[in-house]
Amino acid sequence: MDLLPKEIEAYASQFTTPETDVLKKLNRDTHAKVLRPRMLSGHLQGSLLSFISRMVKPSRILEIGTYTGYSAICLAEGLQTGGLLHTIDHNVELEEFAKHYIRLAGLEHRIIQHIGEAAAILPEIDEEFDLVFLDADKENYVRYFDMVYGKLKKGGIVLADNVLWSGKVLNKPEKNDKEALGIVAFNEYIRDHAGVRNLLLPFRDGLMLMEKTG
Ligand SMILES: C[S@@+](CC[C@H](N)C(=O)[O-])C[C@H]1O[C@@H](n2cnc3c(N)ncnc32)[C@H](O)[C@@H]1O
Repeated sequence: MDLLPKEIEAYASQFTTPETDVLKKLNRDTHAKVLRPRMLSGHLQGSLLSFISRMVKPSRILEIGTYTGYSAICLAEGLQTGGLLHTIDHNVELEEFAKHYIRLAGLEHRIIQHIGEAAAILPEIDEEFDLVFLDADKENYVRYFDMVYGKLKKGGIVLADNVLWSGKVLNKPEKNDKEALGIVAFNEYIRDHAGVRNLLLPFRDGLMLMEKTG
């Protein structure tokens, strides 16, 4: 289910600052060569991520779920001078693809790629983050949030993608639908979390915006 009518999305895209040449090429190349290209953030969401990052002006960013590097490149646009973005993905086959575009974007010294299971890599990254983007396996969102919370500065921002899960959150998910169950559990967890101020933004597939208040 597309939450936004296609024509509205196309209109919004036309009236948004165009993708850079590198992002346009990465978008096209991902659709031509990589499985499940719908996973890529794309022009509108990428622009929102870039916008938020440029407002936060982070020194350290964490992303869980690199895929082909589109969102990492967008998020890195807001980094302070000397800032770094750590991005994690367990799909080793996408490492070189993403690296190529990170290099084309001139961000090879700003973006550090980690290859492996997010839950295993997270404890090894010794940083305090200003901005985090959760965009990997949905069944582990609560787990990742808890792992990340202690590494987040007070006032730090966490963004989590796909929190409407194509509208499936409206009905009780099937017992074997681990991803939908994970998203529903995450949304409830965040709503009830005492150390978070949040907004579930019904944009694209749903983006949860969270600020650490505790
Ligand atoms: C939705 S895609 C990320 C899209 C990307 N953030 C973007 O906007 O272009 C999700 C990615 O998470 C990765 N992933 C899934 N489970 C993971 C895990 N347990 N540890 C690390 N990466 C994982 C997948 O390999 C996939 O590339």
